[in-house]
Amino acid sequence: MRKKVTIVGAGNVGATAAHWIAAKELADVVLIDVAEGIPQGKALDLLEAMPIEKRDVHVIGANDYADAAHSDIVVITAGIPRKPGMSRDDLLQTNYKIMSDVVNKITAVAPNSILIIVSNPLDAMAQAAFKQSKFNRERVIGMAGVLDSARYRTFIAEELKVSVENVTAFVLGGHGDTMVPLPRYSSVAGIPISELMDQATIDRIVQRTRDGGAEIVKHLKTGSAFYAPSAAAVEMVEAILKDKKKILPCAAYLQGEYGITGYYIGVPCKLGERGLEQIIEIKLTPEEDKALKKSAESVKELCAVIGV
Ligand code: LAC
Repeated sequence: MRKKVTIVGAGNVGATAAHWIAAKELADVVLIDVAEGIPQGKALDLLEAMPIEKRDVHVIGANDYADAAHSDIVVITAGIPRKPGMSRDDLLQTNYKIMSDVVNKITAVAPNSILIIVSNPLDAMAQAAFKQSKFNRERVIGMAGVLDSARYRTFIAEELKVSVENVTAFVLGGHGDTMVPLPRYSSVAGIPISELMDQATIDRIVQRTRDGGAEIVKHLKTGSAFYAPSAAAVEMVEAILKDKKKILPCAAYLQGEYGITGYYIGVPCKLGERGLEQIIEIKLTPEEDKALKKSAESVKELCAVIGV
């Protein structure tokens, strides 16, 4: 039997995630949204592309959750996106209400699924989903580090005019202004970027990475990024479905790792069939450690506002 992935939220991120999953023939897809007709229409349209793409996957859209039963993975993208001038944190109350409702419905029909949280503010929404689902931490993982690292890798590749495949880089911390790009662990074909760029260039790229989401919002005006966010979520989906044991930066619930307890924050995670299979602890400099703790503090503040 084919694997099954449910995507909640048929907006740009959700629908594009469905597209990547179908294009890669990873799983059957159920697209769910409250808006009548939208998930059905987008799902049918995508399904009709399959003969052209030569992919045997089934894609359906629905307004209720019955079709989500027996999902292996549920990707939650539901929520409102940012408008220019808004921070991800401005979405907190509205998206928390939506997240609570979605998690209640999903846990009722797909109690054995793995949840990948994509809605913003990411780390607080992952925490909310974790608390409400009562799933173990292995089965509730937040997407953000893969996206932030992809932006960082894009800018490094563009700067050095090298293949994106050559660039390895990590961004840790929360998905927000306090994210922690790690130039020390960034390399091009194994060569540390500090040997290929001066500090001012690295600093500029790091800042552009931090502002990466806002840069897109500023262009689009009516919404936020969706190609890279959905591709990032699908890289996590693929790692889990194929049991790849892939190390990716994801938001995970920390229980003492990195000296942080009881909060979601972006750290290197090994993803396999059980979901989050291991948190990799890398040695941080005092400065990096301070930046990560600061990032955790801002996640903590948001969680306190919604009481999770
Ligand atoms: C971004 C939003 C999706 O970073 O958080 O583009």
